[in-house]
Amino acid sequence: MPPTANDLSLLDSLATAVVAIDDGMRIRYVNSAAEQLLGTSARRAVDQRLTRALTIPDSLFARIREALDNGQPFTDRQVSVEPHGQDPQVVDLYLSPFRTDESRAGLVLEINTVDRPLRIARDEAMLAQQEHARSLLRGLAHEIKNPLGGLRGAAQLLARQLPDEELSEYTSIIIREADRLQSLIDRMLGPTNRPRRSPVNLHEVLEHVRKIIIAGAPEGVQIRFDYDPSIPECLTDRDRLVQVMLNIAGNALQALGDSGRVVFRSRVVSNFTIGGTRHPLVACLQIIDNGPGVPEHLIDQIFYPMVTGTDHGTGLGLSIAQSMMNQLGGLIECTSEPGHTTFTVLIPLEIA
Ligand SMILES: Nc1ncnc2c1ncn2[C@@H]1O[C@H](COP(=O)(O)OP(=O)(O)OP(=O)(O)O)[C@@H](O)[C@H]1O
Ligand SMILES: [Mg+2]
Repeated sequence: MPPTANDLSLLDSLATAVVAIDDGMRIRYVNSAAEQLLGTSARRAVDQRLTRALTIPDSLFARIREALDNGQPFTDRQVSVEPHGQDPQVVDLYLSPFRTDESRAGLVLEINTVDRPLRIARDEAMLAQQEHARSLLRGLAHEIKNPLGGLRGAAQLLARQLPDEELSEYTSIIIREADRLQSLIDRMLGPTNRPRRSPVNLHEVLEHVRKIIIAGAPEGVQIRFDYDPSIPECLTDRDRLVQVMLNIAGNALQALGDSGRVVFRSRVVSNFTIGGTRHPLVACLQIIDNGPGVPEHLIDQIFYPMVTGTDHGTGLGLSIAQSMMNQLGGLIECTSEPGHTTFTVLIPLEIA
């Protein structure tokens, strides 16, 4: 009996990716979790060859062929697969035979990502630790803010009383350095007002940031885009999102130096868990660069405040960005290796 609409929506609520293929290894069906895994929509995936959507080891390819021929189910654990254009993932696979509508042999693949549950647990613990570090820093910044204002005011008063013009050079230094410290303190404190949500066109935000980045990029750096036009407007704080994307893209430019490529990419994923809450739809905004990558010893720490790998950085950009996204119910993730660094901003799609 062919599946009914109800059966299919049931499959869409599974966390397991389900892919059905026919005897020519063409995809006949993908559920929502599989769309997320493959980074594509069901519309695009159906009729594609499985191996175009997903790079799989030769040994697995051979076993699938065999299973199509002999109709025997099989299980393969801890296999590394690479969805087209995405990072490799370790998965457990369960394959069972089925008959397609045309009564041809087919296989149903159930694909479970092995590291996703681990990542969710780690996300929660890490977010809590990062927030703790930020609140310590905010406390410290508050303590410095008031006396600093007093210090600057006193230097101004002193400057007016000085008998000798040359001495005012020293009071100017105090005022200038106090101002520099003040702006650092303000960044440490982060935004003080509450986020203001309104309907936001995410591509307008990405294009706005892309133009600013193009204006500041050296000639040898290309700034490209790859958008999924189906992303709907969402309720979020536009100004904060612009700031977040600018911080991330600014880092990419810095990492590239004089030459390289930055890609602004957008996708939608379904059934995604952020900090313990499962969302039916999440927008995935990515900034990908082909620079040297985040230094290995820093990769687990870059979202903490005051962690920097550069000589002139304050190490606040990513920490502020993560904090802003948390307030908006989202998350920033990073994967990095030399030649391929991806920062992913995940925003729950509360449809505007
Ligand atoms: N795209 C990237 N490629 C390589 N390294 C990166 C990238 N993005 C971030 N990093 C590393 O992460 C560190 C932390 O970034 P973050 O934006 O928090 O601070 P920063 O850029 O050093 O200082 P600032 O406060 O001025 O932003 C950077 O110093 C850099 O070492
Ligand atoms: Mg930065």
